[in-house]
Amino acid sequence: MEKVIIDGGTKLEGTITVSGMKNAAVAVLYATVLAGDVCVIENLPNISDVVISLEILKSVGATVEYISETEVKIDTTNVLDKMPPDKLTKKMRASYYLIGATLGRFGHSIIGYPGGCDFGVRPIDQHIKAFNALGADVSTEGNVIEATAREGRLKASNIFFDCVTVGGTMNAMLAAVLAEGTTEIENAAREPHIVALANFLNFCGANVSGAGTDKIKIKGVEKLHGCTYELIPDMIEAGTYMIAAAATGGNLYIDNVIPKHLEAITVKMREMGVTIDEYDDGMRVYCEGPLCNVDIKTSPYPGFPTDMNPQIAVLMCLANGEGVLTDTIWDNRFRYVEELKRMNADIDVEGNMATFAGSTVFKPARVRAVDLRAGAAMIIAGLVAKGQTEIDDFFYVERGYDNIIEKLRGVGAHIMKIG
Ligand code: EPU
Repeated sequence: MEKVIIDGGTKLEGTITVSGMKNAAVAVLYATVLAGDVCVIENLPNISDVVISLEILKSVGATVEYISETEVKIDTTNVLDKMPPDKLTKKMRASYYLIGATLGRFGHSIIGYPGGCDFGVRPIDQHIKAFNALGADVSTEGNVIEATAREGRLKASNIFFDCVTVGGTMNAMLAAVLAEGTTEIENAAREPHIVALANFLNFCGANVSGAGTDKIKIKGVEKLHGCTYELIPDMIEAGTYMIAAAATGGNLYIDNVIPKHLEAITVKMREMGVTIDEYDDGMRVYCEGPLCNVDIKTSPYPGFPTDMNPQIAVLMCLANGEGVLTDTIWDNRFRYVEELKRMNADIDVEGNMATFAGSTVFKPARVRAVDLRAGAAMIIAGLVAKGQTEIDDFFYVERGYDNIIEKLRGVGAHIMKIG
């Protein structure tokens, strides 16, 4: 089993460059199916969720060719609406974007239930509600999701989501771009990756407006075509390195970021006493004095992202005074707390709320990455703890962080992967 060994206690210093965004990449890759043509995706992160997505696309008939390490050419002309291997689709959550894409293109889709990180129940009722509204029947028997357009082609509709859902909004957009008429999605998610998907679809000839607000309008078109599209930088990867800089008392220039996407993180880190200088497409992060604790509540964009919950938790352990972190998105996001406790953290969890006593002196230990972002948090804690920390199940981290070991070594970390 892959693990990571960190010899902690070193300040991170230098420049670290952020890669393309995972959660935009996985949506755009499946969206290429709608083009039925050749698409070139640039600034693609080298992460296992991308590798698996490309395998899934190949399994349904796409041809995939890497032009460079970060650019891929995908031809979806010969894709069919057949079921991809279950062993692939259950490795990740975003495989369910194939439903919206194939249902939109062929009026039919069949796929095994998706996997992904375990944060408690992860229902897909809002996705199904959107497909139903667009005129599809959906069955979920035997862990297989099959959707069929009642009249061959989907029909535009008004979709009002009961909760703000990134995946539901993306799947509704994918299904609606080729539907007959104008669809309106209300209570839509506003994340930058929603805007990225809309931009990609529009480059392919779709007519999507309002992405980035809570009301998205999609005028259905007859056909899409291929395009070249460059992915936006990963705000969660950037946020993770911002925390790593502050936690180690280092000084990092984080290159290739969109500072606006990071506002919620920046505001909270500044409140904690971290200095953050913003530039057009970079940020310098360092600490000049002690950290003080804050209260944080995660919420959909533009709120504080749930995908930064475990990483900010490390900073809240280190800060002076008590702080409370509440996760309003996932009901079981705090599984990493037991691992941080092995490293001497003093955290008390009740339901979706964690209280940090603060002033933790992290001790090295053998710990596990219990999911992707939890793994990133364990790495940050390991970088802080003086001595040798071992992190098991590193494969979780590789799902979403491009070359994290090399990037951290480049700014002075003593970290290596074994196995
Ligand atoms: N929800 C429902 N019904 C649905 C869909 C969602 O009740 O049909 C609820 C969920 O249970 C949750 C909330 O709505 O309480 C938000 O879920 P959402 O659909 O927004 O999450 P997701 O699309 O499954 C994406 C990211 C996650 C990130 C969440 C929230 C991808 C591939 N995944 O998941 O990212 O935590 O949005 O921002 O985009 C990660 O990158 O580490 C990660 C887990």
